[in-house]
Amino acid sequence: MNNKVSKKVEQMQPSGIRAFFDLVLGMKEVISLGVGEPDFVTPWVIREAGIYSLEQGFTGYTSNKGLYKLRLGLHRYLKSKYNLHYSPDDEMLITVGVSEGVDLVLRAIINPGDKIIVPQPSYVSYGPVTELAGGIPVYTDTTKDGFKLTPEKLEKAIDKKTKGIILNYPVNPTGVSYRKKELEALGKIILKHGLICICDEVYGDLTYDFEHTAFPTLAGLKKNTVYLNGFSKSFAMTGWRVGFACGPKEIIAGMTKIHQYTIMCVPITAQMAAAEALVSGKKSIEEMKREYSRRREFVVEELNLMGLLCNKPQGAFYVFPSIKKTGLSSLEFSQKLLKEEKVAVVPGTAFGQCAEGFIRISYASSMESLKEALLRIERFMGKL
Ligand SMILES: Cc1ncc(COP(=O)(O)O)c(C=O)c1O
Repeated sequence: MNNKVSKKVEQMQPSGIRAFFDLVLGMKEVISLGVGEPDFVTPWVIREAGIYSLEQGFTGYTSNKGLYKLRLGLHRYLKSKYNLHYSPDDEMLITVGVSEGVDLVLRAIINPGDKIIVPQPSYVSYGPVTELAGGIPVYTDTTKDGFKLTPEKLEKAIDKKTKGIILNYPVNPTGVSYRKKELEALGKIILKHGLICICDEVYGDLTYDFEHTAFPTLAGLKKNTVYLNGFSKSFAMTGWRVGFACGPKEIIAGMTKIHQYTIMCVPITAQMAAAEALVSGKKSIEEMKREYSRRREFVVEELNLMGLLCNKPQGAFYVFPSIKKTGLSSLEFSQKLLKEEKVAVVPGTAFGQCAEGFIRISYASSMESLKEALLRIERFMGKL
């Protein structure tokens, strides 16, 4: 049989991050500053809750929406942190990470040919998943605006087919974040055109220099927002695969329909652990955040000293320095650095063509590894 795979899937590019890291596999003594994953193990109290739930025999399905205990915990968490009110009954869904949340919301809202605005550089899944859902991603280049979407660029990107926008902040891969005023300016345009804002705030708890503003807390915007968040980054729980989506009832109901046929529910052990994270994980979040911030200071200073210019990121655990002065493309730079000094970083183009001339460095690595990696990068720069 020819054409075993659909045209849509055949045309889809594999993730630039994974493609690059296939090169790293099998190489010895590589320091990887590539993958966006905390180097911390999940705090013990959270792991213990998962183990204990197994001991108690919690091994079955949960409600499609997720464990009520976890939804209630999230309701309380959002209320106390942002004064944000989502009903655990019908405005909330527990998902397999934010990844599933992104997929579900796009599939729930897109009619064929609808457009979704994606400011770039951006997290790798937004464009391909929009296309899989039958939509058209409209990329807007933020590189000349400090990696932030401006109201002018947003207005310009909108036309009659625009259904929504995916706004992620703090941003993977640049680490920049938006202040409340900036979000309000974008929010006005979103409201004016009746768009849906899919807000990926998975790094919200990892904001260093100012308070994180949750998008649905902005005046009038809750009804237009699907808020996505999860436990992967701030609680160092990437492997547990727990996220959540909050939003207008009809969208959450649509997402839940897809989720119930494709996933059924998030594994109960992971949900039990996540529920505990909300109760006892706060201290660990703060400790990890302090450590990331310390590393951020160190990495930014060192990179700027060696001429790899970058601003201090305001959140997440990435820096996005320019490598333009080397004359190499971001892929050439990353491949050469890997080959000659065994340091893995991600070429900026993995996050959109507009990010040519940049690389992403993750500082979710131990201070020791970062020190050694930066020495190697400095030596590499000296040889160019
Ligand atoms: C911006 C952003 N959104 C979503 C995800 C996926 O997160 P999860 O592990 O919750 O699926 C990532 C992971 O790197 C990310 O950087």
